[in-house]
Amino acid sequence: MVYDYYAGGANDEILLRASRTAWDDIQVRYRVLRDVSDRSLSVQVAGHALDWPVIVAPMAFQQMATPEGEVATARATCASGCGMILSTLSNRTIEAVRAATTGLLWFQLYIYRDRGITADLVRRAERAGCTGLVLTVDTPILGRRERDLLNGFHVPAEFEAPNLGVNMRDALASRHSAASALATFIANHWDAGIAWRDLAWLQSITTLPIYVKGVVRGDDARLALEHGARGVIVSNHGGRQLDTAVPTARALPEVADAMAGRGTLLVDGGIRRGTDVLKALAMGAHAVLLGRPLLWGLAVEGETGARRVLGLLRDEIDLAFALAGVRAPAEATRDLLA
Ligand code: GLV
Repeated sequence: MVYDYYAGGANDEILLRASRTAWDDIQVRYRVLRDVSDRSLSVQVAGHALDWPVIVAPMAFQQMATPEGEVATARATCASGCGMILSTLSNRTIEAVRAATTGLLWFQLYIYRDRGITADLVRRAERAGCTGLVLTVDTPILGRRERDLLNGFHVPAEFEAPNLGVNMRDALASRHSAASALATFIANHWDAGIAWRDLAWLQSITTLPIYVKGVVRGDDARLALEHGARGVIVSNHGGRQLDTAVPTARALPEVADAMAGRGTLLVDGGIRRGTDVLKALAMGAHAVLLGRPLLWGLAVEGETGARRVLGLLRDEIDLAFALAGVRAPAEATRDLLA
């Protein structure tokens, strides 16, 4: 059940597969004879210095992968010099996760029908010292994940979900055949009526910068900036929402052009190899979000496994840079892509 929840996507999982192949289908027009003996992967993302251009994506219920849950992820990101976004659907408190890393930590949220729940979460994220809010906008209701329906997906009743705003056991722990407890919870609690005006509401209750996650079109990216977002995350929720949506590797150039250097631009979806990261930066992203591979690392060996996954990717990015004639992220430009 847990493996299927993490690994799965919506409907026929066409987008889940296309998310990978879309990066594979782009080729690199590498440069030669550029003295790549000195290389740096460091970037500035919204005023944060990252040693390398990766932020761990918000992913739900990480205690299902390792007993320490999101605290293990936070420690791994801190040790690896990258950032982390903590999901509303997490098993460890915002405060405990904040205490586990000195690096970039943003809090991801959804807008509840009961705006008071969202407002409380925002206040907690602020007080804890998170430096950004990530508003996920591709989930007015949950996508149809057939693996979860078949498995009767639910969260183990002994787990906590302390950033959920409602009691986890009532909301997510009961098993019903042919239903996902998560889909039911979302239909009951999140607001499918949210619209651009809610971005103004969110800004009215916080001074934290807001990043809009789940955009795949240039016009939507422009709207996000016009409504006060400080950045956009090109994402289709890891292929878990609308099947056959456009893969992010194909959406990113359009969004980068529409943003024209205004605001922070991040991307996720199918990023597995160092060359994928090089391509994302060349298209205009400032950094990428890494999702499922972290869960596999956590499941194998907790914090150590997560660190190992991050280390492997970091080495691959460095190698891709060297072989492409790129000495620093600023040199990853669109002419590198064919
Ligand atoms: C939650 O956001 C999920 O994708 O399961």
